[in-house]
Amino acid sequence: MCGIVGYTGPRDVGEVILNGLKRLEYRGYDSAGIAVKTDEGIYVQKRKGRIDDLSEEEIPEHDAGIGHTRWATHGKPSDKNAHPFLDCDEEISIVHNGIIDNFNTIKDRLIERGHEFRSETDSEVIVHLIEEEYEGDLLKAFKNVVKKIEGSYAIVVFQKDSNELLVARNQSPLVIGIGSGENFVASDVPALLYYTKEVKYLRDGDTALISRDEVKIWDENDEAITRETKTIDWDVEDAEKSGYEHYMLKEIFEQPKAIHESILGRLTSFEDVDFSKYDFDEVQFIACGTSSHAGYVGRYIFEKLAEIPSTVEVSSEYRYTSPSDSTPFTILFSQSGETLDTIAAAREAKRRGCNTLAVTNVMESSITREVDEVIYTQAGPEIGVAATKTFTTQIIILYLLAIELGLRKGVLSKDKAEEYKDELRKLPRKVERILDDKNEIKEMTESLVKAEDIFFVGRNINYPVALEGALKLKEIAYIHSAGYPAGELKHGPFALLTSETPVIAIAVKDHTFEKMLGNIGEIAARDSPVIIVGDEDKELKKLADLSYFIPNTPPIFSPVLVNVVLQLIAYYTAYRLDRDIDKPRNLAKSVTVE
Ligand code: G6P
Repeated sequence: MCGIVGYTGPRDVGEVILNGLKRLEYRGYDSAGIAVKTDEGIYVQKRKGRIDDLSEEEIPEHDAGIGHTRWATHGKPSDKNAHPFLDCDEEISIVHNGIIDNFNTIKDRLIERGHEFRSETDSEVIVHLIEEEYEGDLLKAFKNVVKKIEGSYAIVVFQKDSNELLVARNQSPLVIGIGSGENFVASDVPALLYYTKEVKYLRDGDTALISRDEVKIWDENDEAITRETKTIDWDVEDAEKSGYEHYMLKEIFEQPKAIHESILGRLTSFEDVDFSKYDFDEVQFIACGTSSHAGYVGRYIFEKLAEIPSTVEVSSEYRYTSPSDSTPFTILFSQSGETLDTIAAAREAKRRGCNTLAVTNVMESSITREVDEVIYTQAGPEIGVAATKTFTTQIIILYLLAIELGLRKGVLSKDKAEEYKDELRKLPRKVERILDDKNEIKEMTESLVKAEDIFFVGRNINYPVALEGALKLKEIAYIHSAGYPAGELKHGPFALLTSETPVIAIAVKDHTFEKMLGNIGEIAARDSPVIIVGDEDKELKKLADLSYFIPNTPPIFSPVLVNVVLQLIAYYTAYRLDRDIDKPRNLAKSVTVE
């Protein structure tokens, strides 16, 4: 939801900023812009469209500047609503990520005071407020402004006569990159990796002054503080396409490694959480989008391996439910750790007296400061908007947690736990075997591109996998698709089944297999083309128009394998339709508004 970059130093500022913005495009991509300090004043280039639509040659070479890639909230995508913004005298420039909740009141007041607004955005009020407060000390004016605005923000400001950048954060991420004789700031680490691996994460309420040679930080009480410098262990290549046509494909292919990294060191002793501190009699999973599907899968894993009853809530709904007396242990999934709905849900769960654990892929992300415990998935950077490897590793964490809790509760024997751990160790190799079959899976998508509606069905632990398969296809191929429990199609959706409506059926040999066979038979009898993904079986083959059988695995682990097949189906369908796979229309990877 908007990416921002700032730079001060000797390099070509246009190159640094555009390069950084390209790595943040997953955060928003409906308009982009850059402002650079020049000897004649502030140069601005901004427009509706992608970062590649900006003309790099036209950007003057200078030593400080800021840039922005946008995902519209207030004001539709247009040249005038693109950031950066200038004050009336064109001496100060800002970029902003987040939402200023009280912008209407501020704007009315500023208009009365004679300020001229050039956009429909909430963000523009920031620069006019700074102009209003400015009496020769930009830092002082900026700090005053930060006190007056409410909402979420990551802001970078500079003034035409200085190459210092001023920044502030509240509920929107901001990380400072430390260089030698140069410094950087960005919404996320991939924008900095080319130049530095030394970073300082700002906290909510922090303001900072960034010059070439130093970084000064103040906390929410305006006390000067230091934030620890951390070294990032991601390589530039981790955030590059490395020869793949799309990030999404690269990230699908990185899953064997991501699974391996996520189980590494955790199979012998899972020390991320001191389990003895908490009561796990009841668990609730809370998340949005793909991460919520991990929660739904988690319900089955927790029930089977640890006999812990659990519920799943979508973050944006949870806050508005009525609190009850129970205080379930709350596990929040967010690959980015920045989804505002999920952060708000974490706060609400705490308010209701629940202990909270966040499972996230991003170090020091906002959610990590809202919860009692954090577990990091070790998926590496995920740039494609559609979540793939982070979902897989969220599920891996669920297995590890459930095994640990099952052992602690005494409902899982040591031998059985070892059996499960062995199965986890085998998963990377099995995923590789599926990836080796990519061409076969690609062939299966030929029939899908013409469809206007596609159903995904599954039962039990593979029902949420059907939901996820349908979501992936909607997101990147723009084909309407719906995930259903296989037994539910007859209660309505059957009315939509025709020979033009493919149904992708997940069938694994668990206790629901016989019922699934029956359901698939009913679907086939309505002439719908049936594509089966699951365990090899003669009866299934007879019913299927097309089929792909996963490597042999116990049903409880089948979601990981089936899901990889569904990811490839979505990818190749979108590919055939020539969709913008890494940046699907109207979406953003990280959604920091409610
Ligand atoms: C956005 C993304 C989805 C993602 C969801 C939750 O909508 O487009 O792919 O699943 O946010 O993101 P999170 O970072 O909280 O897992």
